[in-house]
Amino acid sequence: MLASSIEELESRSLERIAAARSAEELETVRVDAVGRKGRLDQFFKEMGKRAPEERKSAGQRLNAAKQKIEAALESRKAEFARAALGSRLDAEWLDLTLPAPGPRRGHAHPITLIQRELEELFASLGFAVLDGPEVETEYHNFDALNIPADHPARDAQDTFWLEGGNLLRTHTSPVQVRGMERLGPPLRMIAPGRTFRNESVDASHEHTFYQLEGMMIDRQVSVANLIHFMKAMLTAVFRREVTVRLRPGFFPFVEPGFELDVQCLLCGGSGCPVCKQSGWVEQLGCGLVHPNVLRTSGIDPDEWNGFAFGLGLTRLAMMRYGIDDIRWLQSGDLRFLEQF
Ligand code: DAH
Repeated sequence: MLASSIEELESRSLERIAAARSAEELETVRVDAVGRKGRLDQFFKEMGKRAPEERKSAGQRLNAAKQKIEAALESRKAEFARAALGSRLDAEWLDLTLPAPGPRRGHAHPITLIQRELEELFASLGFAVLDGPEVETEYHNFDALNIPADHPARDAQDTFWLEGGNLLRTHTSPVQVRGMERLGPPLRMIAPGRTFRNESVDASHEHTFYQLEGMMIDRQVSVANLIHFMKAMLTAVFRREVTVRLRPGFFPFVEPGFELDVQCLLCGGSGCPVCKQSGWVEQLGCGLVHPNVLRTSGIDPDEWNGFAFGLGLTRLAMMRYGIDDIRWLQSGDLRFLEQF
C-alpha cells in the first residue's frame, strides 16, 4: 500500500519535473515533493508508525525515491541555467572579427592647404623653402631690414617683446636676412610661417597670423621680373588669370616699394562690398631690395640686386575660401574646419 503510493509520488514528481517550463515552476514541484513539509516528508513521518520490518524496506524505498527526484530536479535546474545563459549570450553576442572603427581621420587646415600649394609652385620655379624662428632677435626682425630704431613698427603697441630683448617676429621678413646670411647670392627663397602682432582681435585682426615671404637675388632683377612672379603666384592660387596693379608703398627694406592689388575677383572690378566698391583688393607688399639690406648681410649691391615680397597667407586663405571672419581660422571649431 505504502510502496505503491511512493511509486506513484515518484513517477508523478518526475513527470512534473519534466513538464516544468521555468525555474520557478520547478521550485514549486521541489517544495511540494521533497520540501521540508512536502509529500515525501509525510511518508517518512507515517513510516515511523509502521512495524520495524516494514519500516526498513519502506525506508529504503523512500530514500531511493528521494534521491531520484532530487537528481531529476538538479539536472532540470541545470538545463534551465544553461538555457538562460544561452539566451543571454545570444543577446550580448559580439563579433570580435569585425574591423575596429579606428581613429577619426583629420585633414589639413585651410592655411596649410594654401601654404603647401605655394611651396610647390615656388619649388617648381627654383625657390628654396626656408624656415625661421618665431622668437627672433631685434636685429633680424628690424635692424638688418633697414628699419630704424624710431620706426613705429618697433613700438610695444605692435610688437610682443620678450624678456632679454628678443621678440615674437612681427613678419616673415627676418627669414630673408637669415637666407642671405646662410645661402648668399644668387638666391631664390620663400619662407612661410607664423607671425605675431600685439593687435586687439576683431573680424579682420588677429594677434597670430601667417605670412609668406619671398626673395630673389640675382644680377639685373627688375620690377618686370617681380610682376611676373607675383602674377604667376596669384594665378595659381586663384586658379584663373588675375589683373594686378602696383601702387607706391613704403617698406624700409625695399626701394622702390609697392603695394600690389588684385582686381576684385568677385565683381571683376566694377565694385562690391568685398573690395569696398574700389574694384581692387590689396594683396601684398613688395619691391626691389634696398641696398642697405643687401650690404648689411654681406652682399655687394653694385653686383647684385633683387626683389622681395611679403604676402598675408591668412588673408589669402580668407579670400580663396570666402571666409569673412579671421577668428574662425584659429578657433579650433570643427564645424568650421570640416568644410575644407
Ligand atoms: N613685411 C611686410 C609686412 O609685414 C610685408 C612686406 C612688404 C614684405 C614688402 C616684403 C616686402 O618682403 O618687400 O607688412
